Amino acid sequence: MPVRSPVLNVMANAALKAARGLIRDFGEVEQLQVSVKGPGDYVSNADLRAERTLRNELNRARPGYGLLFEEGGAEEGSDEHHRWIVDPLDGTTNFLHGIPHFAISIALERDGEIVAGLVYEPTRDEMFWAEKGVGAYLNDRRLRVSARRQLGEAVIGTGLPFRDRGDQPRMLASLAAVMAATAGVRRFGAAALDLAYVAAGRYDGFWEFGLCPWDIAAGLLLVREAGGFVSDLAGGQNMMSCGDVLAANDKLHLPLAALIKEALRAAPPAA
Ligand code: IPD
Ligand code: CA
Ligand code: CA
Repeated sequence: MPVRSPVLNVMANAALKAARGLIRDFGEVEQLQVSVKGPGDYVSNADLRAERTLRNELNRARPGYGLLFEEGGAEEGSDEHHRWIVDPLDGTTNFLHGIPHFAISIALERDGEIVAGLVYEPTRDEMFWAEKGVGAYLNDRRLRVSARRQLGEAVIGTGLPFRDRGDQPRMLASLAAVMAATAGVRRFGAAALDLAYVAAGRYDGFWEFGLCPWDIAAGLLLVREAGGFVSDLAGGQNMMSCGDVLAANDKLHLPLAALIKEALRAAPPAA
């Protein structure tokens, strides 16, 4: 039985509390009042309630830590070393459509480095968590990325831009290349969970463009601590600033990166 650190327990308790509200709201999803926040980006009451719960719980346990919340934005804390990076509901579109695939994502950054990450999927009661140097876990089970070596056998997750968002020609070029080279592509609609699935060996890899820090902060640590590799699409480590992410098991990261890089080289330039 892995021993979670006190701060990981704080994160787990906050997630469990916020998840109770999400589950209640999910049950009443049709009655939720939904307001349009921006093009293609809905924010529901459930989002805001979950964020409030998480903020209260995390602030109470660790007053002074800085915050980066999806809805509330960035807030400096009196502690310059620590910052929570939180997506209270990843997979909002799924949630609003009654599709039970969404999660809460909480990461703790210390001096610019993610040191703890937790992605909680309430409908399956799956808590993915990782601490730097300690490993990645699903509930009490140690996680390890998949061992597949052949792209032809690999199942790869992704995220697709919708409406006027994102660089669709680039996405379509990379999608065509990955579809042709692998056993299948999946688009489940919650990037934090996509990364958790790479850590758990369910996906052999994942790539997406234009994500935000709260989508990926916890998931990146999960993949690393499960023995996988993460990078941006240029092969660097600027995922949190540029939003482009490629994650895969240790054997497939390089070939998948090369495949996508080649596809993007031949893609039409960004609009
Ligand atoms: C979204 C999900 C989705 C990804 C989008 C994200 P949200 O987050 O992670 O899978 O494709 O880019 O914005 O809006 O549901 O928190
Ligand atoms: Ca998100
Ligand atoms: Ca969200």
